[in-house]
Amino acid sequence: MHTLRLHNLSKRFGNTTAVDGVSLAVQAGSFVGIIGRSGAGKSTLLRMINRLNEPSAGSVEFEGAVVTDLQGQALRQWRRNCAMVFQQFNLIGRLDVLTNVMMGRLTSVPTWRSLLTLWSDADKLAALEALDRFGMADFAAQRCDQLSGGQQQRVAICRALVQQPKIILADEPIASLDPRNTQVVMDALASINRDLGITVLCNLHALDVARNYCDRLVGMSAGRVVFDGVPAELTDHVVQNLYGLEASQVMHMPSSHRATVLPFVRAAQTA
Ligand SMILES: Nc1ncnc2c1ncn2[C@@H]1O[C@H](COP(=O)(O)OP(=O)(O)OP(=O)(O)O)[C@@H](O)[C@H]1O
Ligand SMILES: [Mg+2]
Repeated sequence: MHTLRLHNLSKRFGNTTAVDGVSLAVQAGSFVGIIGRSGAGKSTLLRMINRLNEPSAGSVEFEGAVVTDLQGQALRQWRRNCAMVFQQFNLIGRLDVLTNVMMGRLTSVPTWRSLLTLWSDADKLAALEALDRFGMADFAAQRCDQLSGGQQQRVAICRALVQQPKIILADEPIASLDPRNTQVVMDALASINRDLGITVLCNLHALDVARNYCDRLVGMSAGRVVFDGVPAELTDHVVQNLYGLEASQVMHMPSSHRATVLPFVRAAQTA
């Protein structure tokens, strides 16, 4: 069953076309990786799904409803249904872990009001269960700014989880993490996907991680979808096309992108 459909979705910022006529149908329960060079439009695409960015053209449909038309309460409900996880975690550092997770229960309430809220036992229980699931229950009373990056991202995933979303949109969730924490955080997303059936759309620039965890990969270049397939179809040749063969272009990428892409470029040049 297709749960999420993007119809000819575009976003322009002034003269820049960040996303250019993207149409995609996403199967319920799938784990989709979105890959592509820096500036390809990956973040803008996720942000339009969550309505953090309004499309210039096209629409987003979820279970038959046009979410790009939603306003007010219906829009807040949609944002509860599609939780976001960010590279920089977006936690409130001076607050404890439990409170940060419980914030996920209050996505429709402004932060200043949620700080005054008395949490119910049900909120606390849901937050503790989520933390326990990812080995973080012992940190419940600790300030978030005292945690490692991997621990903070697990807290952010717990916050997303207590929203009881149908989709999780993760924008480079491992870009700030070392290899061990990368695995812990990706395993957390994989278990949410597998055990709870929550659809995951995840922007990634580490291709090995994308291949290992995703059941479908969507490659973007200059705002367009230029690859859509299972990981086995992401051959070296496709990667060359996706990232461009010019070594000089590769050298202008952020170092994290460069480390991922250079081996493919070298392989192609010696082939
Ligand atoms: N708020 C904005 N205002 C103006 N231009 C923007 C804005 N957001 C994104 N862009 C431009 O849109 C294009 C796509 O950006 P986007 O952040 O979606 O790319 P990305 O694939 O996520 O890149 P990265 O891998 O570096 O995160 C880029 O050219 C970027 O400069
Ligand atoms: Mg991005």
